[in-house]
Amino acid sequence: MPLRGALTVPGDKSITHRAIILSSLADGEATINNYCPGEDCLHTVAAFQAMGVPIEIAPGRLRVAGKGLWGLREPDSILDCGNSGTGIRLLAGVLAGQDFFSIVTGDASIRRRPMGRVVGPLREMGAVIAGRRGGELAPLAIVGARLRGIVFSSPIASAQVKSSVLLAGLFADGTTSVTEPAQSRDHTERLFEHLGVPVMRNGLTVSLAGQRAFAAKDVAVAGDLSAAAFFLVAALLVPESDVTITGVGVNPTRTGVLEALQEMGAHIELLNPRVQAGEPVADLRVRSAPLCGVTIGPERIPRMIDEFPILCVAAACAQGETIVSGAEELRAKESDRIAAMALELRRLGAAVEERPDGLRIMGGRPLEGAVCQSHGDHRVAMSMIVAGLAAQGETRVEDCACVATSFPGFDKKLRGLLTPSGQG
Ligand code: S3P
Repeated sequence: MPLRGALTVPGDKSITHRAIILSSLADGEATINNYCPGEDCLHTVAAFQAMGVPIEIAPGRLRVAGKGLWGLREPDSILDCGNSGTGIRLLAGVLAGQDFFSIVTGDASIRRRPMGRVVGPLREMGAVIAGRRGGELAPLAIVGARLRGIVFSSPIASAQVKSSVLLAGLFADGTTSVTEPAQSRDHTERLFEHLGVPVMRNGLTVSLAGQRAFAAKDVAVAGDLSAAAFFLVAALLVPESDVTITGVGVNPTRTGVLEALQEMGAHIELLNPRVQAGEPVADLRVRSAPLCGVTIGPERIPRMIDEFPILCVAAACAQGETIVSGAEELRAKESDRIAAMALELRRLGAAVEERPDGLRIMGGRPLEGAVCQSHGDHRVAMSMIVAGLAAQGETRVEDCACVATSFPGFDKKLRGLLTPSGQG
């Protein structure tokens, strides 16, 4: 059955984390509209509530009573970031510069993910952080310290690393500057600018002067392109579909997936372009189309890092070969996404070769329904649900509770597009 109609997706998860953090550190009250209600962001809300920031949660909006740069108080228990890499790594940057002690941790997946990438530069700034395996793994115990600005050259293009160091830089003496090997998402920089905090950008370097207080300002969060991507691919794959997703963020540091799908033969229209809290937004209209394979090398990875699971589904249904290389970072996400997608797509009959730094997918074999696993990873779960739509026969994806980390109500939205009235 085709997917038809219009829908919205939740607010962008990356922007929501940053809006909660910066609104908590601002002077005065602000409303965050269209926030991402996924569990990841609610953990960040709870962390700041535990540090004395009043945050009121209502449907579609958060009201944050900012405490100012130096207004957080010592939490009386461990801060739990759940499944969120962004939450724990950005929080570590904030906590490093406080005058109190804190411990941050998360679920089993978070406790396996690398933390040394933020702990290293934060220690260089003077942070006192202990953690398992010398600080490589959470829980992290952070004794707040007086920080100094550093000039940091990050070995990886990671917005979490960049943002963690810049957030620590807010509390540091002097200027903090971060250079990355390729441009990662720039939501932190844009939100600082929206709030009137000067950031200097020079090519791949971002700098920020520390210890400047700033005033609260409302934030309207753009719809999450990473969430929209599941519907884009579903509509492309199911014949006779025609779907419009309204109010989606199209920040150029995130739109690699649109370019890749267009290269594969998709026609995605960007309608009503506008700007929301410093972020470009548009309505995306997509209709089903035959797809062909694509080659994606390392230079394109950062701008579409979260869309590989769903891109693999598109590739399995496309004619010809898709090759992804230089994508070893995918192994350090909520799950090992290279191994997980190779295994799960094979269950449906796709021809997938797993490589150390990517995948080779020989597309075009008809997919057959099967029982699949989510690997506890929200994006793997949603990708396999979409693959199930494209497959012949029934597909069951097990262990889908993780979808709520970013997209509560995903299944309802999808079913809405499959009903004849087509209201998602
Ligand atoms: C994010 C950055 C990316 C991305 C993650 C969200 C962010 O991670 O995969 O889902 O909000 O800064 P890395 O910084 O590890 O690349």
